[in-house]
Amino acid sequence: MVMFKASRKETSPFDGQKPGTSGLRKKVTVFQQPNYLENFVQSTFNALSADKVIGATLVVSGDGRYFSKDAIQVIIKMAAANGVRRVWVGQNGLMSTPAVSAVIRERVGADGSKSTGAFILTASHNPGGPHEDFGIKYNMENGGPAPEAITDKIYANTTSINEYFIAADLPDVDISVVGITTFEGHEGQFDVDVFDSTGDYVTLMKSIFDFMSIQKLFGSPNFTFCFDALHGVGGIYAKRIFVEELGAHEGSLINCTPKEDFGGGHPDPNLTYAKELVSRMGLGKESSQGEPPEFGAAADGDADRNMVLGKRFFVTPSDSVAIIAANAVQSIPYFSLGLKGVARSMPTSAALDVVAKHLNLKFFEVPTGWKFFGNLMDAGLCSICGEESFGTGSDHIREKDGIWAVLAWLSILAFKNKDNLNGGEKLVTVEDIVRQHWTTYGRHYYTRYDYENVDAGAAKELMSYLVKLQSSLPDVNKIINGIRSDVSNVVEADEFEYKDPVDGSISKHQGVRYLFEDGSRLVFRLSGTGSVGATIRLYIEQYEKDPSKTGRDSQDALAPLVEVALKLSKMQEFTGRSAPTVIT
Ligand code: G6P
Ligand code: ZN
Repeated sequence: MVMFKASRKETSPFDGQKPGTSGLRKKVTVFQQPNYLENFVQSTFNALSADKVIGATLVVSGDGRYFSKDAIQVIIKMAAANGVRRVWVGQNGLMSTPAVSAVIRERVGADGSKSTGAFILTASHNPGGPHEDFGIKYNMENGGPAPEAITDKIYANTTSINEYFIAADLPDVDISVVGITTFEGHEGQFDVDVFDSTGDYVTLMKSIFDFMSIQKLFGSPNFTFCFDALHGVGGIYAKRIFVEELGAHEGSLINCTPKEDFGGGHPDPNLTYAKELVSRMGLGKESSQGEPPEFGAAADGDADRNMVLGKRFFVTPSDSVAIIAANAVQSIPYFSLGLKGVARSMPTSAALDVVAKHLNLKFFEVPTGWKFFGNLMDAGLCSICGEESFGTGSDHIREKDGIWAVLAWLSILAFKNKDNLNGGEKLVTVEDIVRQHWTTYGRHYYTRYDYENVDAGAAKELMSYLVKLQSSLPDVNKIINGIRSDVSNVVEADEFEYKDPVDGSISKHQGVRYLFEDGSRLVFRLSGTGSVGATIRLYIEQYEKDPSKTGRDSQDALAPLVEVALKLSKMQEFTGRSAPTVIT
């Protein structure tokens, strides 16, 4: 057995190691500075209670982006020196964020061990490579991201750190080979267990969905499918689940081999960045030749986000969660006994609210950030939730889950088509399902304008202007009436604040809302996930109940509100931008 020795290294703090909603995200070159990663990892160990470190089992894995392999070896050596008993690593260091959450909650080691937390190495949907982003976040025993009390402690520790512990003499572990490597330290044994990255997750998915009924859907001659992993880690799950388990053709998977730089792309599943999928599905300017598939989907770098498309048809994430909630009980065995409740983030459209009302379900509106759902789920208050930012999920884990969302849609399609899969009948399509939903519940026209990499000072000024403006409704309405007469009045405006019904904590300054008489909404907030400058997000939503008017083009329907939003906020004046960077 190889022996190792823990050694103490002196260090000094780095500025700016404050983890955001999804951990610490910086350029790879920042992480490559000597001691930078080490400081953050030690600060995390020091923020946890001793029993979560000494003798504990920790997961370390991620989306495989550039610098992950180096980081994994460093974390293994630091875990050994800090008294961790064993580290679980997905083969090649790969594991999707939802799969890590599942492993924390479900996996039992050969010796009966259970993990109490994970370092997840990802910057999610941000590009990867030597000059792009890297990220690290810590998830807790429930499988969800560390709460603010812990991330605040981590940050405080990073500002005063002067030492860290590392088993510098521990040889690198070959993480490409499944198996357990055992080392002997002064305090006892230390194991590195490299395991199959997909197994536990696949088992969990099989316990949630009816794989047989989805297999039948894939077996139908009329059903065609395309999944784009954008070269992220989702590809390894797509191969296992869609191809090996469900019988999809290998050719229906695109960009499903994980790459350290995501093929030079932006691994974010939206209409702008998932170019190849969008074109295959017959959407966008450069739509490819031939008949598009019936169903298309993409996931982001760490496979927690998703985008769902039908043939020449885009499903907004806000509609997606509402439609999954409306159909879950009939289509997905995990929910067959009913839903405990549903939740959405504040800027997400109110499509889910309408479903909750119809089905008499508990409903919650939380600030942006998945952690708020986690509390509700731990308290048994929420089964399904979603965000406009392409996040959808359920209480099977404590992260959003891209592959789960795709399986949920496949389940709904399988259910709606259960009697016409023989090839003779026309299939009920994704578009049919969405249009039917609008007819029943009304439609929330929805769009989001992103202004990326705006000067941080200018973004702040714009937000303070809007905060101040919302305090006087007469002023707001005077301005709006001067811009357009065909837009209804603002009847309420505020800065969104949330009191967590479970732990009573209060989150303030979560975005400015303007609520209109006819149910329309304008929301402005600053992104919490960007890595350079500031990103302003503008969310525009309009509710249409009349079934004869739910089929319009969304940008057309929203044009009056867009004009009002841009002029009301003086967007161009504050930011110098005449157009957003991305429209979704
Ligand atoms: C991450 C979080 C989500 C959040 C999203 C948008 O993906 O996990 O919960 O909705 O970022 O964040 P942003 O602050 O950039 O709008
Ligand atoms: Zn992600």
